[in-house]
Amino acid sequence: MITGKTRITGVIGHPIEHSMSPPMHNNAYKQLNMDYVYVAFHVQPEDIEKLITSAKTLGICGLNVTIPHKTTIIPYLDEIDETAKKIGAVNTIQFKDNKAKGYNTDGIGAIKSIQEYTTLQDKNILILGAGGASKAISFSLINENINSLTIANRTKENAEQLIENIKKQTNFTKIQYHTINDVDEIIEDMDIIINTTPIGMYPHHEVKPPIKTDNINKNHIVMDIIYNPLETQLLKQSKENGAQTINGTSMLINQGLVSFEIFTGEKATYKSFEEALLNQLK
Ligand code: ATR
Repeated sequence: MITGKTRITGVIGHPIEHSMSPPMHNNAYKQLNMDYVYVAFHVQPEDIEKLITSAKTLGICGLNVTIPHKTTIIPYLDEIDETAKKIGAVNTIQFKDNKAKGYNTDGIGAIKSIQEYTTLQDKNILILGAGGASKAISFSLINENINSLTIANRTKENAEQLIENIKKQTNFTKIQYHTINDVDEIIEDMDIIINTTPIGMYPHHEVKPPIKTDNINKNHIVMDIIYNPLETQLLKQSKENGAQTINGTSMLINQGLVSFEIFTGEKATYKSFEEALLNQLK
């Protein structure tokens, strides 16, 4: 029940009504018997300037941030966590002692998902795509003592810009670009493959995977950040070849769990988020 003491958390975006976060967080609050609520707020881009002040005024204790506000919110924060600063995007804001601090839990969400299957240390990793998700995952990966990172992308310039950005802000040098069309040539040298492109997402779920999968085998872990459908063509073909596959629900849940802890100081269970998400996706 919502009471006079209920604490408010939520997500801001434009559009926002299809967000999966409210059911996940609210299910965890219910199961943990916490007097919190998680609400979706539709915030127009031109109103972003007022957002932090408004949230402080209302005593909101935590907000997730989604498209198109992840970067434009930054100038209005009081503090920003080191990784979020490098990524240049924030998906979580903690309000504490009248200060707004920004974090990015997308990358760590992806890392936790992979770490359920293997360690990242010394691994050769291939990322498909060079957009916002690729950037968040790349910056988080290089904190994990990986051996190398290869970024394959349709537009070479976008990948090169990301690589430059990473090299400039970290001392990681084993990072290179590869054309996405002939990336199957190097698949054998890779341990983990992560798709961050929207190729294979509903309603275009029947299209060919972003890469040829012939050389993917039982030694590979293949992760897709797409969660609708639960099994993309890339994951389906990789699994048929014997690879360990991880679908997009895992990163979505793990990033949410990290945000939950930032907001409340409590840990929610993976299961509480998962059952709410799968229920929505049904
Ligand atoms: P996000 O920022 O959410 O990660 P995005 O910016 O829409 O997502 O796109 C992520 C990546 O998917 C981009 O690298 C994009 O490639 P370009 O740099 O060439 O634009 C890639 N991408 C999107 N649609 C694609 C398509 N149809 N074929 C190949 N790559 C595609």
